[in-house]
Amino acid sequence: MPAVYDKYAGNYDRCFAPLERLGLAEWRREALGLIPAGSRILELGCGAGANSAFYPRSPLAVSSELSIKMLEVAKPKRGANHLVQADAQSLPFGEGEFDSAFATLVFCSIPDPSLAFAEARRVLRPGGQLVLLEHVRPPGLLGPLFDGINKISRPLFDDHFNRETLSIALDSGFKAKKVDRKLLGVVNLMELYSTK
Ligand SMILES: C[S@@+](CC[C@H](N)C(=O)[O-])C[C@H]1O[C@@H](n2cnc3c(N)ncnc32)[C@H](O)[C@@H]1O
Repeated sequence: MPAVYDKYAGNYDRCFAPLERLGLAEWRREALGLIPAGSRILELGCGAGANSAFYPRSPLAVSSELSIKMLEVAKPKRGANHLVQADAQSLPFGEGEFDSAFATLVFCSIPDPSLAFAEARRVLRPGGQLVLLEHVRPPGLLGPLFDGINKISRPLFDDHFNRETLSIALDSGFKAKKVDRKLLGVVNLMELYSTK
């Protein structure tokens, strides 16, 4: 079955360009700036390669992504040494192969985020780093609004607008070093470590 994002690949960069200019690109830079140079890095759901420009220097950098069409758009951007088609819920890598993993705007789309967190833990070395930049269910009055948006975003884009990604990560065996709540908590930049 084709991945949902296959049909968005051709227009993805154009649609996201205004958001990138409004600050998303700066948040990407900030997120990847948390990863120490020299780490063996795995990106989950690299999409059209929007993070390519911000990869730190690395002996091993792998961009993984479910949609083959998104990978085709990412390929010329050359962020990683390797591009791999892979489902984050079932990664084709061995235990402890990476020091750091990261994902931006991905955990909202993954059908079973707990499974993806378990896989991230498996392929990270003990104590390995996971950096996430994700839109999440915000606190306070905005929460119910996002519950409403979710009713539309799920069937249209397979995107969960009210996902509580940090809680799921903590329940899945990660501990938080830093959580930076941006845009009234709509976007979280999370620096997590595997407790393994
Ligand atoms: C909103 S896009 C974000 C792409 C990119 N990370 C960015 O920041 O621009 C979500 C991406 O997650 C990918 N994705 C969704 N489910 C996935 C899964 N189970 N495994 C790997 N990638 C997945 C989609 O194909 C899509 O490219």
